[in-house]
Amino acid sequence: MDRLQIKPAQRLSGVAAVAADKSISHRLAMIAAVAEGPTTIHNFAESLDCQSTVECLRNLGVRAERDKSTLTIQGRGLHGLQGCSRNLDAGNSGTTVRLMSGLLAGSPFESTFVGDQSLSRRPMKRIIEPLRQFGASIEAKDGNYLPLKIRGSDLNAVDFTMPIPSAQVKSCVLLAGLLARGVTKVREPVVSRNHTEIALAEFGARIGTMADSIEVEGGQALRGKEFSVPGDPSAAAFFIVAALAVPNSGLRLTGIGLNPTRTGYISLLVKMQARIAITRLSVANGESIGDVGVEFSELEGMEIGGSWIPNIIDEIPVLAVLGTRTQGGIRIRDAAELRAKESDRIHAVATNLRALGAEVEEYPDGLFVPGGQRLRGGVVDSFGDHRIAMAFAVAGLFAEAPVVIQNPACVDISFPGFFDLLNQVRE
Ligand code: S3P
Repeated sequence: MDRLQIKPAQRLSGVAAVAADKSISHRLAMIAAVAEGPTTIHNFAESLDCQSTVECLRNLGVRAERDKSTLTIQGRGLHGLQGCSRNLDAGNSGTTVRLMSGLLAGSPFESTFVGDQSLSRRPMKRIIEPLRQFGASIEAKDGNYLPLKIRGSDLNAVDFTMPIPSAQVKSCVLLAGLLARGVTKVREPVVSRNHTEIALAEFGARIGTMADSIEVEGGQALRGKEFSVPGDPSAAAFFIVAALAVPNSGLRLTGIGLNPTRTGYISLLVKMQARIAITRLSVANGESIGDVGVEFSELEGMEIGGSWIPNIIDEIPVLAVLGTRTQGGIRIRDAAELRAKESDRIHAVATNLRALGAEVEEYPDGLFVPGGQRLRGGVVDSFGDHRIAMAFAVAGLFAEAPVVIQNPACVDISFPGFFDLLNQVRE
């Protein structure tokens, strides 16, 4: 499938469950691998990225068996990963490389990560620097890019202040800290998603979480257990935005992860007068989960920047698309990180919106999408980026004529079945 046409929708309705959380699935699989005993993970993400994590773990001697959506991992203990002569292929997945590098830095063998073209362009210096402080020896192309060669060794705890807000970097440091001698402290001036902290505590780790720092003691044994992964709030965002934008829509999304470090976009949409209601709220495995009801809404505009950005980083492409449907438009600042994602998402969003006839102002660290614009149909490109493909599928639902997406198959990176689910809830 190299192009897919999305026709304008009459409305969206019904009840749907979206893809399982990718961030949580990666973490549970990796931590289970260094825990003691078996871990069973129900509703493990089927995304290609999470498959990359499981394949890399298998190459490191971990037994991982999948039965439908349940993944069982036999833990090998803190220092139980085994060296492998083959390269570890992380595919398109930054989370696989950046988090697993923390574990490999403290494992006494040499490993090399490789990845696809997009991942090979993404910066790795952000994890190389802290891992070197632990005492690990790491080499990368031009000091920053894959292939990344890690020579694991005994590590000594660090006190690390995050130079950029990134949950991947924070998690890398916490996982290395788990294998290091002493207590590792991560200072986080701007909060990022905290799934690693929650998962480590669920596996029985002693981990201290303060308002702007986290401490983890090295060398402690973790216990495998049973988990269930919530629906991915970043996957839900595409359906929420679609229902808000297409008149007469009403959708209920079930079992969505509602960790407050991920649901900033829901809070912002509610401030913009979105009709969103959360029901059946509960906590499972330390993570909040609930149903999200959403109805078509007339939305005000919004300016978003500062400490909101890490919380909504993955939702910005679809929020930008929604900007055209608001009264005052959506302005995003302080989000230069978007240029270092699976594609340069600022450029990709601006290019595609213009291809659909919209006006967009592009900044080095964000964009402004004026409100009250009708999108015409047209041809857009996914730029090989799953979130760009899905954001513009949503645009196709409320454009005046069909939107053709080139290279749409990349949605499988985070959301296999996305287009089928969209077809089920749309008329
Ligand atoms: C992720 C963190 C974010 C996010 C990515 C997944 C994670 O990246 O964009 O999709 O699972 O930790 P950064 O930590 O680099 O901002």
